[in-house]
Amino acid sequence: MKIIRMKNVQMRYPNGEGLKQVNLTVEQGEFVFLVGPSGAGKSTVLKLIYMQERPGLGQVQVGQFNSAKIRPRDIPYLRRQLGIVFQDFRLLEDRNVFENVAFALRVIGTRPKEIKKRVLRVLGDVGISHKRYQMPYHLSGGEQQRVAIARALVNEPMVLLADEPTGNLDPQTAEEIMQLLEEINMRGTAVLMATHNYDLVKRYNHRVVRIEGGVTLD
Ligand SMILES: Nc1ncnc2c1ncn2[C@@H]1O[C@H](COP(=O)(O)OP(=O)(O)O)[C@@H](O)[C@H]1O
Ligand SMILES: [Mg+2]
Repeated sequence: MKIIRMKNVQMRYPNGEGLKQVNLTVEQGEFVFLVGPSGAGKSTVLKLIYMQERPGLGQVQVGQFNSAKIRPRDIPYLRRQLGIVFQDFRLLEDRNVFENVAFALRVIGTRPKEIKKRVLRVLGDVGISHKRYQMPYHLSGGEQQRVAIARALVNEPMVLLADEPTGNLDPQTAEEIMQLLEEINMRGTAVLMATHNYDLVKRYNHRVVRIEGGVTLD
């Protein structure tokens, strides 16, 4: 079953840049690399999936949501079915690790007991439980990315979107984060990872979608 489907998608920023022709699918449980040089349109593709941007032409289908039909008030429900991680982690600097992961659950009114259970479990899954009362600025880059991944997973999304998740990390730490994404995928969560790093992509046996100049190639 396809959980993401972009068909002949075009999207133009006011300056004329953007996507010209994008075709992309992600199946349930699949791991897909979106690879292409800087400026190719990778981050824009992800923005269309979490519907920060809308297509000019074509449609984006994510689970039961379609870009042509979704109402603005339903976008938060769409995003709850996605986990998103970025190159620069984007943690809340004034909250500790536990609270960074708990935040999204508190916002939707999850009961404290349930929050504690789910946050501790997901922090364990990413190997960072022992730092749960630390503030983000006391953590290494790799540790911060683990927290960001835990936050992305706490709602049990159908797909994890990762935009250059290893881009700010040294090679050894990048490898550890890749191993973690592999484990998460093996446990059943689909992963769509954007990267400009062809060498990294070659070392994994996952489907690759190439993008250049706003056009996907197969
Ligand atoms: N908010 C924006 N406004 C205008 N142009 C943008 C914006 N974001 C990205 N672009 C342009 O769109 C193209 C694709 O960008 P992006 O999706 O960020 O590429 P990638 O993630 O592959 O580096 C580039 O030419 C970039 O300069
Ligand atoms: Mg990018």
